[in-house]
Amino acid sequence: MVRKHIFFVFLLVIFYKMIDLKNKNALVTGASSGIGAAIAHRLAKEKCNLFLTGLGDAQLQETKEICEKEGVKVFYKECNFAEFASIDELVKEIKSIGFHIDLYVLNAGISQRDRGLDTDFAIDQKIMQVNYWSSVYLVKQFKDEILSSEHVNMSVTTSLAGLFGFPLRTSYCASKHALFGFFESLDLEYPNIHVTFLIPGRINTPISKSALMGNGEKYAKMDAGQAKGLDVDKAAKRAVKAIKKEKHRKLIGKGELLMAYINRYIPWLYYKIANKISPT
Ligand SMILES: NC(=O)c1ccc[n+]([C@@H]2O[C@H](COP(=O)([O-])OP(=O)(O)OC[C@H]3O[C@@H](n4cnc5c(N)ncnc54)[C@H](OP(=O)(O)O)[C@@H]3O)[C@@H](O)[C@H]2O)c1
Repeated sequence: MVRKHIFFVFLLVIFYKMIDLKNKNALVTGASSGIGAAIAHRLAKEKCNLFLTGLGDAQLQETKEICEKEGVKVFYKECNFAEFASIDELVKEIKSIGFHIDLYVLNAGISQRDRGLDTDFAIDQKIMQVNYWSSVYLVKQFKDEILSSEHVNMSVTTSLAGLFGFPLRTSYCASKHALFGFFESLDLEYPNIHVTFLIPGRINTPISKSALMGNGEKYAKMDAGQAKGLDVDKAAKRAVKAIKKEKHRKLIGKGELLMAYINRYIPWLYYKIANKISPT
């Protein structure tokens, strides 16, 4: 009998902080592909209404149709995060339909496949703009709505490469590190904001295909490491569970996640092996 009680208390402690996403509204960026599209579908299964954005009208429409099958309201608008004017248009649309955001899934991003000194400065700026500045700019457009909300959740997709340096990813790493700095501070500053950092290792998505080379051209290849990465739906399932549990940080991936611990606890080993791992 006592054991039974202890078991129920244990379960209560585990599920205590689970948030209910039913009838909540989520904005998902980078929802036209990969992790963002899979998270959107998972959120729809939780009966969460969605506003999807990303590049590619046809792909957004496809994600919308998949999510609508779960019986939720889904809106979408294409937006280029490389341009603030395009983000302004997105914000105007979200506000005009009265979509009050409870959960910001800040997930859009582009990767990099070239060494730092071989990357044009304009490309460094573009990666920072799409991966970092766009999210900062976007949430600031909703300042009044966030301040007047009782509780707001933000899910920020960073990367294992946001925890340490990695070859062929100088600006990509920098942009992901920057997300940690800004959004962790925001979480500490406002009691009504909770931030969950999603930290993927290698997830099987087409991200390497759209990664930028130093001259701005697309890398256009599927990395072997990427193809062997964690299945994107499994990644999204773990992501949404972490959001619901209001975790601060959630590592998502396979064996590569060990690098997070090696970097933190055995830094000399990290320096020995980080440039021996294939970056493609
Ligand atoms: N896959 C991984 O192994 C991995 C690992 C660590 C972190 N991440 C992070 O996870 C997030 C999602 O990546 P993913 O793997 O799902 O890659 P993905 O399939 O390429 O998805 C990236 C999303 O971002 C959108 N996007 C790219 N440039 C944009 C722009 N200028 N304006 C608006 N949207 C833009 C893409 O739209 P289009 O597809 O239409 O271009 C797409 O919806 C990214 O932030 C990425 O850095 C991924």
